[in-house]
Amino acid sequence: MTVTATGDVGTTLVIGATGTTGSRTTAQLTAAGHRVKAASRRATQLPGAEPVRFDWYDPATFGAALDGADRVYLVPPVGDPDPAAVMLPFLHRARAAGVRRAVLLSSSAVPEGGPAAGAVHRALPGLFEQWAVLRPSWFMQNFTGTHAHADSIREHGVILTAAGTGRVGFVDADDIAAVAVHALTDDRAPDTDLVLTGPEALSHDDIATIVTQVTGRPVTHHHLTHDELRDRLAALMPREFATMLAAMDRAIADGAEDRTTDTVQRLTGRPPHSFRTVAERELTPRG
Ligand SMILES: NC(=O)c1ccc[n+]([C@@H]2O[C@H](COP(=O)([O-])OP(=O)(O)OC[C@H]3O[C@@H](n4cnc5c(N)ncnc54)[C@H](OP(=O)(O)O)[C@@H]3O)[C@@H](O)[C@H]2O)c1
Repeated sequence: MTVTATGDVGTTLVIGATGTTGSRTTAQLTAAGHRVKAASRRATQLPGAEPVRFDWYDPATFGAALDGADRVYLVPPVGDPDPAAVMLPFLHRARAAGVRRAVLLSSSAVPEGGPAAGAVHRALPGLFEQWAVLRPSWFMQNFTGTHAHADSIREHGVILTAAGTGRVGFVDADDIAAVAVHALTDDRAPDTDLVLTGPEALSHDDIATIVTQVTGRPVTHHHLTHDELRDRLAALMPREFATMLAAMDRAIADGAEDRTTDTVQRLTGRPPHSFRTVAERELTPRG
């Protein structure tokens, strides 16, 4: 199957289709009438999509997932410090199987050639004629979904970080998905990396204030030191990963994420959602 300049854009394999960005990308693609193969380890059925079993660590699942796909949305294996080890062999197979366009989910904190997905980012333009690397800032859904921040807000009314008063251009996962859909289906692929943010940079104190206002339940931001955060996290995960997450908070404290970009507006034609809008959508009881 080939990518055509207009009309039918073929079939997208969405890897991580049950996750925060993959589920939204799948939903927006199918709502727009595009064919989707929704890949996850349990081949979960999602509305309007064809489920397919896929495991980064089981190459025997690659062939059936790639069958008929001409483009792919790539969520790296979660928590793997060297995702390129499993992703690059898959991407070579994908190219051989007829995939022409690849859109990789990376992070604003990870430059081309950097750690984690950075090595895949560097390889992507050499593998595919059409490509994009999405580099979102921190997700707004970290405070509303199943992330540790959301759990600690619900259970204890606190957000624990070592980010101090550093600000972050938090971005809505719906907006990441909207950009992913354009990057996957527009006639011309971006062929570049795209740093995605929301409309404003907010501190975690600002987030606590907005969650308090929206839910009516008091939420406070506890400022931890880098070492306090690392030691807390190390009780829950490998120390190497805990150290990396604590270092990311320190980078926020130092201003690394204090920026906004116009990428969501430029690719989708509408402004990105604010954190207040997302909190009202996802934290207020319905019905
Ligand atoms: N959270 C943030 O603030 C933030 C900011 C910037 C970038 N990011 C990046 O976002 C990525 C996470 O993306 P996300 O939030 O969309 O994902 P997510 O919600 O963590 O979901 C992960 C997805 O991957 C699937 N998965 C897990 N292990 C797998 C395996 N071995 N093989 C195949 N699929 C597997 C899961 O499906 P099943 O379990 O059903 O198989 C699920 O669909 C990370 O790479 C992170 O670096 C996050």
